[in-house]
Amino acid sequence: MLQVERLKKAFDGFQAISDANLSVPQGEVVAVIGPNGAGKSTLFNLISGHLQADSGHIRFLNEDITNLAPYKICHKGMARSFQLINIFTSLTVFENVQTAVIAKHRLDQKFFKPSKRLVVEETLDVLESLGLLEYKDRSCSSLSYGDQKVLEIAIAVGSKPTLLLLDEPTAGMSSEETQRIVNLIKHLSREKGLSILITEHDMDLVFDVAQKIMVLHQGKTIAQGLPQDIRNDKSVQNAYLGETG
Ligand SMILES: Nc1ncnc2c1ncn2[C@@H]1O[C@H](COP(=O)(O)OP(=O)(O)OP(=O)(O)O)[C@@H](O)[C@H]1O
Ligand SMILES: [Mg+2]
Repeated sequence: MLQVERLKKAFDGFQAISDANLSVPQGEVVAVIGPNGAGKSTLFNLISGHLQADSGHIRFLNEDITNLAPYKICHKGMARSFQLINIFTSLTVFENVQTAVIAKHRLDQKFFKPSKRLVVEETLDVLESLGLLEYKDRSCSSLSYGDQKVLEIAIAVGSKPTLLLLDEPTAGMSSEETQRIVNLIKHLSREKGLSILITEHDMDLVFDVAQKIMVLHQGKTIAQGLPQDIRNDKSVQNAYLGETG
């Protein structure tokens, strides 16, 4: 579904991504792991079109999407959440998700003016699926941090993606809130059939949800494979897992 090949990105001469390679098979949860500053968020920004690559290729559903605008990539079926919460705090929970539902219909053209009923139905469906229905009329600023992170994922799901990118969805969360995100990832993957690409520092979460892991170290992919192979990989242990115990 997604292939990244020999991707490179420098910031003012600093090579943040020097050789990233990744493949996400349809229907799988794939985790990108690596120490702080390894380039995980930069890689996500390149994949979603929020940053332009210097060289290399990104293919999504057999199309070259390298350096396309974010809205064009979203239209092709990719949505993401950010490491720092990115929601409209002045809107209600319902309105936040509704903006994504409407935007997706507008991009689809054929439903240039979707009926209000359809938009409401789809929005409520997303809120229910992510466990936010009871908060639908609440202002976002009144939500807990954990609920705001879930809302950000709900906004991404509102654009009906086939591939969902989650950049540290549990950053700053309690263990209870983290478990909620684990359950949500499993629900979206198993029940909704979404392919998911995630970055996380929480190794328990990674080994619980991921069918495949890619290890990024100083901007370079040093390993990619099944969780048990990554766990036993000597270069990974030296570069990363060793550091975190
Ligand atoms: N816009 C930018 N301009 C200059 N340098 C940047 C920029 N964005 C990221 N970097 C640098 O690129 C490197 C990779 O950063 P990135 O945020 O991708 O790492 P990360 O793996 O997501 O780290 P973390 O685990 O802390 O989120 C870092 O050294 C960072 O300082
Ligand atoms: Mg990051």
